[in-house]
Amino acid sequence: MSVTAVVGAQWGDEGKGRVVDYLADDAQLVIRYGGGNNAGHTVVNPHGHFKLHLIPSGIFHPGTRNLLGNGVVINPPALVTELDGLAAAGFDGDNLFISDRAHVVMPYHVLLDHLDERERGSAKIGTTSRGIGPAYVDKVARRGIRIVDLMEPDVFRARLAATIPRVRRLALGYADDEMADAIAEATDESLIADAYLAAGERLRRHVVDGQALVDEALERGERILLEGQLGTMRDIDWGIYPYVTSSSPIPGGASLGAGLPAVKIDRVLGVVKAYTTAVGSGPLPTELEDVDGERLRERGEEYGTSTGRARRCGWYDAVAVRFSVRLAGYSSVALTKLDVLDGFERIRLAAAYRDPTDGREWTTVPASTSVYERLEPVYEDVDGWLADTTGCRTWSDLPAGARAYVERLEALAGVPISHVSVGPERAQMIVR
Ligand code: GDP
Ligand code: IMO
Ligand code: MG
Repeated sequence: MSVTAVVGAQWGDEGKGRVVDYLADDAQLVIRYGGGNNAGHTVVNPHGHFKLHLIPSGIFHPGTRNLLGNGVVINPPALVTELDGLAAAGFDGDNLFISDRAHVVMPYHVLLDHLDERERGSAKIGTTSRGIGPAYVDKVARRGIRIVDLMEPDVFRARLAATIPRVRRLALGYADDEMADAIAEATDESLIADAYLAAGERLRRHVVDGQALVDEALERGERILLEGQLGTMRDIDWGIYPYVTSSSPIPGGASLGAGLPAVKIDRVLGVVKAYTTAVGSGPLPTELEDVDGERLRERGEEYGTSTGRARRCGWYDAVAVRFSVRLAGYSSVALTKLDVLDGFERIRLAAAYRDPTDGREWTTVPASTSVYERLEPVYEDVDGWLADTTGCRTWSDLPAGARAYVERLEALAGVPISHVSVGPERAQMIVR
């Protein structure tokens, strides 16, 4: 038996979906433990090129069960659409399970996400507009609606009726006239009930007591993967607050959101991109707004999987990764997208930050966003290897310069790099 958490160590989009698809060949259960359809996990395998938002990335292995854990927030119509997409590719979804304790993302959560962002103006978070924050707010405020409620139409209707007047008051409080139609639609009780109960019926066959499923898997000694959403730097507690999501991507969130005792997690694999990207606002010390940044974006195809937004790109930030290592306790790291650096003559990495106001050197991430905004990277320069790594299949196939870069990242992170990915496909994973 082994339980491995696969966790994003940067600003998200590190390649978690790709790593989970790769590892799931050997796993009997994959559990998404947090977030919702703000995620965009890309999987490229012999069946095609897929962008998963809610469905766990082990879905393409027929012998692997996939659970949406209690910590996930689920938009039922969006999940039905995603299942339809998979059905069109020949996957029936029989191996998908949904925890009855997961919370439901409602149309008014999406509306409130939009209104909150408008209210923030230039200080907006740049959310994915999927209603994730407001759904978690309702969960914590103890007025959320759960999948188990959706399974009982009378209960669902009653909870909806109890909620709508409050939401309408709230929305009308800070919207202007042009939003009137959107508010009316997102708080239309019968419209919501029809759409959600219909989606609920479609999903019914997948809904289970998630904890019981996990418990059985543990009893049988199965191999389990816990699939993270986003990355440490957007963690609600540890990320660059307030430019964060509303859940806990770090392994502490995995036990809670999967329904599995923390003590059972015996391996944590950090997923780290060989450079840095972020979608949305907030500090990003190594961000490049020059030709190198543009090259990273083009070579790495750095456009958001969920929203299509151009990702902000920059050099590798060893301080942020080291911060994540301390919080997550990675057993080892899977380094992705090394091939994207193939064409660079000079590669930079930030080993520390410096505060230009007092010259102080920083080797960790400050709590203060305004301090973090002004920190500048202290770079080390590395010679590029100027060779194509996409065909490399073993560690020794890699050019010496690429190996030296990986070894330098390893030394700075303080944990072994066990996997190196040189392309999006299953075969393009080097195991050291
Ligand atoms: P996730 O959210 O962490 O699952 O990552 P995303 O799927 O949002 O973004 C990762 C992107 O990089 C996807 O388009 C992947 O297909 C792609 N990708 C993953 N690993 C590699 C790699 O090693 N090399 C290249 N070139 N692309 C990769
Ligand atoms: P995966 O799982 C990259 C970012 C948004 C925004 C902040 C809060 O594919 O790595 P939210 O909609 O969660 O309230 O937005 O977090 N964000 C992501 N960035 N990858 C993701 O998911 C993201 N999910 C949310 O851009 O800055
Ligand atoms: Mg993504």
